[in-house]
Amino acid sequence: MQTVLSGIRPTGDLHLGNYFGALRNFVRLQNDYNCFFFVADYHSLTTHPHPADIQNNVRKILSQYIASGLDPEKSTIYIQSDLVETAEFYMLMNMNAYIGELERVVSFKEKARQNPDNVNAGLLTYAVLMACDILIQRADLVPVGKDQEQHLEMTCKFARRFNNIYGVEYFKEPKAFSFGDHLVKVPGLDGSGKMGKSEGNGIYLIDSDKDIRKKVMKAVTDLGPQAPNSEKPEVIQNLFTLMELVSDKSTIEHFEAAWNDCSIRYGDMKKQLAEDIIKVVTPIRERINDIYNDTEYLDRVAKMGAEKARVNAQKTIQDVREIFGFRRIHY
Ligand code: ADP
Ligand code: TRP
Repeated sequence: MQTVLSGIRPTGDLHLGNYFGALRNFVRLQNDYNCFFFVADYHSLTTHPHPADIQNNVRKILSQYIASGLDPEKSTIYIQSDLVETAEFYMLMNMNAYIGELERVVSFKEKARQNPDNVNAGLLTYAVLMACDILIQRADLVPVGKDQEQHLEMTCKFARRFNNIYGVEYFKEPKAFSFGDHLVKVPGLDGSGKMGKSEGNGIYLIDSDKDIRKKVMKAVTDLGPQAPNSEKPEVIQNLFTLMELVSDKSTIEHFEAAWNDCSIRYGDMKKQLAEDIIKVVTPIRERINDIYNDTEYLDRVAKMGAEKARVNAQKTIQDVREIFGFRRIHY
């Protein structure tokens, strides 16, 4: 069975973009692949979170992952920093990563531009750590959005370089996992193309019904269709795109027809959209609250995940130590 691996930085709550763009697809994969899902808390250090917030943010992601349908019995769900093997591997791999190539990574350049006062070495070697997450599990497939593609290419480069330097065929190159037709981009409701945390336009899995209604009712619209069967401007298409994710076929058809014959009332459409989003979010939110408050359960999940994740990680770090010229040791 092929291995799929994905990580997410614990920087806050998950929104519908995360859910429809990633999580819901991960849930589908669980029966057909050996899945590894982890919370990349080491990575989050590049932006200097307050120590008091880290564990809470990790707990948020774990509970929101599980409430969305990731199953700790089927998949390996773990916390990156529980696998200290990754840290040693990262230190070793940094010796064969070059400053020039790291400085050319687009995400590094962007972050450095946005935060010129915090261009730390961890930020520079972000891609090395990510490569280590992937290679330590010897993952076959990594689902990546556009912004992570270059990191995956770097992973392949580091794997190839390792094999070349030491004359081994140890690492295989991971491939990007494609969700094909299932890959959706969830739009924002503020006229921006994408729902995102940094865009500040998220509908979150923990939002109350009231929050959701308020956010949807505020969605940007236009004056309405000016002629029958006209093309939809982006802000209106965004409403329809969201509807396609949460509403019944008949509902969508109803509003499509209303758009086409110019009888559409955006207020009605938004009301319907809000209720349909609520139908998806409410059961998830209720599960999140239960799981988040069950610290014992979450501790057990994290421990079980770390134990499962450690099987590959230990083997890899032992082999890698030996290939680098060190002794194999017992941790
Ligand atoms: P944010 O943009 O809120 O910071 P992240 O980059 O942490 O979100 O998202 C983690 C993953 O969730 C992404 O790699 C992507 O797969 C998915 N995702 C996030 N936002 C969207 C979106 N608007 N549409 C589709 N997928 C998304
Ligand atoms: N860099 C990823 C992000 O920001 C998170 C991540 C860390 C990751 N390690 C990974 C994703 C390994 C996939 C595989 O979204």
